[in-house]
Amino acid sequence: MKTDIRNKEDIKVLVDAFYHKIQTDETIGYLFTKIAVVNWEKHLPIMYDFWDNILFHTGNFDGNPMMKHRLLNDKSTLSETHFLHWTQLWRKTVDDLFEGEKADEVKIRAKNIAKAMMNKVVN
Ligand code: HEM
Repeated sequence: MKTDIRNKEDIKVLVDAFYHKIQTDETIGYLFTKIAVVNWEKHLPIMYDFWDNILFHTGNFDGNPMMKHRLLNDKSTLSETHFLHWTQLWRKTVDDLFEGEKADEVKIRAKNIAKAMMNKVVN
């Protein structure tokens, strides 16, 4: 039985599962592992806070995603295909693990942010 996303513990489960897949993903994995060379111990807690703030309005995220992705795009061009793939992988990860209002919300928010990010970053 799947539950909805109820708290930060559930967000951790979701974010960990997503980035676990990302690391070996054939389409966008290299952007994280070869281009940005992400420090996962730092990045994952930032992502927990990011989604915790979006779903539960905790106010504990103070990063600058648009800037980060623009810098990434300067190093290696990001395309619409990359963003669509990111969004599909996110949707599938959510659907595999959770169902409910927050699960729906987290998919819609990701899709909208991806769209806005793509418009700002992809030339
Ligand atoms: C093509 C798609 C994407 C790629 C390749 C990508 C890659 C990355 C990378 C490499 C970082 C930097 C990690 C570091 O600091 O070392 C990052 C940060 C981040 N990404 Fe993405 N990302 C993508 C899409 C998205 C989307 C759609 C969202 C939101 C829905 C998102 C949210 C974030 C956030 C919140 C951060 C942290 C920003 C900060 O530290 O200020 N990303 N991403």
